[in-house]
Amino acid sequence: MPELTPYLRDRYAMLFPEKSVEELTRPLPQSLRVNELRISRGELVERLEERGFELEPVPWVRCSYRVVKAPFSPGATPEYLLGYYYLQDPASAYACEALEPRRGELVLDCAASPGGKTTYIAQLMHNTGCIVALEVKKSRLKALRANLNRMGVQNTLVLHMDARLAETLGMKFDRVLLDAPCTGTGTAHRNPEALQKTEEDIKRLNPLQLELLRSAYAVLRKGGTMVYSTCSYLPEENELLLHRFLQESRAKMLKLRHGSPGITSPYGIHLEPVLRRARRFYPWEHRTQGFFIAKMRKR
Ligand SMILES: C[S@@+](CC[C@H](N)C(=O)[O-])C[C@H]1O[C@@H](n2cnc3c(N)ncnc32)[C@H](O)[C@@H]1O
Repeated sequence: MPELTPYLRDRYAMLFPEKSVEELTRPLPQSLRVNELRISRGELVERLEERGFELEPVPWVRCSYRVVKAPFSPGATPEYLLGYYYLQDPASAYACEALEPRRGELVLDCAASPGGKTTYIAQLMHNTGCIVALEVKKSRLKALRANLNRMGVQNTLVLHMDARLAETLGMKFDRVLLDAPCTGTGTAHRNPEALQKTEEDIKRLNPLQLELLRSAYAVLRKGGTMVYSTCSYLPEENELLLHRFLQESRAKMLKLRHGSPGITSPYGIHLEPVLRRARRFYPWEHRTQGFFIAKMRKR
């Protein structure tokens, strides 16, 4: 098990003084999200139970179940290959529910591959309307397209494109999801690299995250909804970034029902109190990966 970098050790000592590295890295049960485009929740649970799996519903996410007993990998069942479910953390699925996409709407997914959130948004829209899914890395398009096909998604246009250029599409969207590229510090339970992040990683990602936020907001229609999410614990890529963005955009922060409040004085820096409306998810509290969700409306 790699040790935390001095940078993260200092950060976590200030943010979560009572938490040990073991609590950050303790394995979590896998979770799945039922794909109601292909099967009902009841039928899938029955089929997987017949194969010896034990599932436990996640009460705060409509289609999420924790796999509490697995006789073999949940990614190796016929049901998985048939697109009846997606292996997805409940906090990640909740970001799509927070977006509240509706039938017939036009939705932009700015950073889409491998498509965990795109496929859930399509499901919540009952495969109607249109999702434009952007992905900048060519090598990641294949996985995105494969997942959209496997899950039976038919309302999504995949574009190999840098989301910072979203305005060149000449479109305005009802809803925009920016599941931003981030350090992934919240994934330490499955990814030891999450313990290896340094200040250089933040310095590299922060300008990109801010540019992506600005571009995402620019293509949102007035009154439209935007969700910004990361799988990181670090306020640098969450509340601190949004504080700056809220001041320049005057976007309205919206309330979310689940999760813990956003941090409004990280490292002793006082931020807009409205950032409490953002939500944080922790393995030790919500049994999810470390995750951050902020929901905004364009005034
Ligand atoms: C956190 S992952 C997205 C995960 C995805 N939303 C899901 O739920 O399955 C971030 C993605 O953004 C892509 N990305 C990074 N910079 C981008 C940019 N400027 N424009 C579009 N996509 C970008 C990365 O290649 C990566 O696939």
